[in-house]
Amino acid sequence: MNSQGMCAAPIGVFDSGVGGLSVLNAISAELPQEHLVYFADTAYAPYGDRSDTEIINRSLKVTEYLVNTGCKAIVIACNTATAAAVRLLREQLDVPIIGIEPGIKPAVHLSVNKRVGVLGTRYTVTSDKFKRLVEPYKQQAEIIIQACPGLVEHLEMPGDQHQAISALLDRFLAPMIEAEVDTLVLGCTHYSFLRDRIQARLASNLVILDTPAAVARELKRRLTELDLLSVDTPIDQSIQYLSTSTNMELARQVMSGLLGKNIKLNQVTE
Ligand code: DGL
Repeated sequence: MNSQGMCAAPIGVFDSGVGGLSVLNAISAELPQEHLVYFADTAYAPYGDRSDTEIINRSLKVTEYLVNTGCKAIVIACNTATAAAVRLLREQLDVPIIGIEPGIKPAVHLSVNKRVGVLGTRYTVTSDKFKRLVEPYKQQAEIIIQACPGLVEHLEMPGDQHQAISALLDRFLAPMIEAEVDTLVLGCTHYSFLRDRIQARLASNLVILDTPAAVARELKRRLTELDLLSVDTPIDQSIQYLSTSTNMELARQVMSGLLGKNIKLNQVTE
């Protein structure tokens, strides 16, 4: 493909399910001229309770699929997959790969009382990558880390999940309230969709930090540096949605609900 062809190629964005749509939205706003392919690995969600090998295998399969179908860059819109697989994906594939990780550094800087909370999946918060991320800040702030099993499952389900999610949020946020954190990091892209509900349970001046917008800016920086930005007009932006779900109608409903618009969802059997 010539460089003009490469610029017009889409960017592949993937997550275990619907969480990465928060990153997709940020990319669409930051780079409205880019064509996007969103891949939800729904049949294998949640990643957060899986082993290293399982997450690495799925991340590799999904990324290879996106690269083979012509994507010029890949965004891992999943903290869990980034923690498990970003290094290996960068070693094995010859496209720019942008990951996402919990915003510990900005949170510690922003915190006034130096008490910072972090919510993430079980895999993310126990990963070596996360431990390395937190280590340099342990002397500067008290960091309260909470795994939130169950939240992703409910966000992936259709229908009214309000009560179940409320009960989980009450449980997972109790340690944050007790520790009087003034800054809370959302370390899973799914949780961005719960931002208002999390804020409502905490002090109104508590700062919630997530990283989709930072990922979109980093993607723009990398594409600019590599001369890979699309020159199409924003009006032409296309977004294709893919899922490995075995129940496509339910998956479509859940994704459409979170995006606030009806989408067409295509099945991938990878
Ligand atoms: N949304 C993902 C993350 O940021 C994955 C959650 C999961 O599948 O457990 O970690």
